[in-house]
Amino acid sequence: MVITRAEEAPKLDLKTKQVGPRPQKVIMVDPEHFRVEYAINPYMTNEAGELNRVDVALAREQWLKLKSTYEKIGFEVLVVKGDHSLPDMVFAANQSFPFLNGRKQNSKTVVLSRMRSEFRRPEVPYFKTFYTNLGYQVEELQAPSKEIFFEGNGDALPHYPFNLVWGGYGERTSPDVYHELSERFGLQIAMLKLVNKNFYHLDTCFSILDEQTVVIQPEAFEAEGLKLIKAIFKNVIESDLDENLKFFVCNCHSPDGRHVIVNKGAKKFVADARRLNFEVIELDTSEFLKSGGSVFCMKMMVY
Ligand code: ARG
Repeated sequence: MVITRAEEAPKLDLKTKQVGPRPQKVIMVDPEHFRVEYAINPYMTNEAGELNRVDVALAREQWLKLKSTYEKIGFEVLVVKGDHSLPDMVFAANQSFPFLNGRKQNSKTVVLSRMRSEFRRPEVPYFKTFYTNLGYQVEELQAPSKEIFFEGNGDALPHYPFNLVWGGYGERTSPDVYHELSERFGLQIAMLKLVNKNFYHLDTCFSILDEQTVVIQPEAFEAEGLKLIKAIFKNVIESDLDENLKFFVCNCHSPDGRHVIVNKGAKKFVADARRLNFEVIELDTSEFLKSGGSVFCMKMMVY
């Protein structure tokens, strides 16, 4: 089922959790080839319109810190090798959408992305191989039109532990994809239209911290979307616009519903999250911000 309005919001009962546990493994792509070589979002150029310059050594240092942070809080990190012709492949959130398929005894299933930018399309086959080796059932979108796009976990965000996925569309992902995912796999999908170019993926303006808590950038959504979010989450942290544009607050990630990893410096958000008893871990992802990505974009959670 696809949901677009607050009136259709399902009751998520914490006592009768519907779906299994969160994924316990993290995929990250080695940052060796990470660069900014084209601009496909507003963050990749400077004021003069030139492509940002990445400090490759610093990027590796920041990436290693993120990797060891996941490990310290109990997650195994699997590293995928990059490719020198794919400077954005380090953003591992975008090439796929893994989930447990309730129609097939909860078997590990992944839908591969159909990326909007031609520059990024060749990243997907690397993930196909990786998932095959992990024992996943690998699925492609069936939508015949070449004009239908899907950017995986950049736009489709599971609301663990429920059978609910939040689906952002309008910038990168096409709305039709969510109808297909819901019909083929029985996923319940709450659709959110993205209306602000600065928030081109749902994970730039919406991050689920735990079952009841989300941080959002209100300016990214229409009134109906905001109503839907507020109908489902008990706690909605509203990010400060300037703080989010500067520190990618809404690209924070909570892998376990307790720790929240976020780019450092976001005073308001850190205070808001601590008030709700989250353990905030601040890291520097400055080099990745130059490409329009931060913590959430740099990983994929898998079973
Ligand atoms: N430069 C990349 C792009 O524009 C950044 C992707 C960031 N990933 C994300 N999940 N928001 O595609």
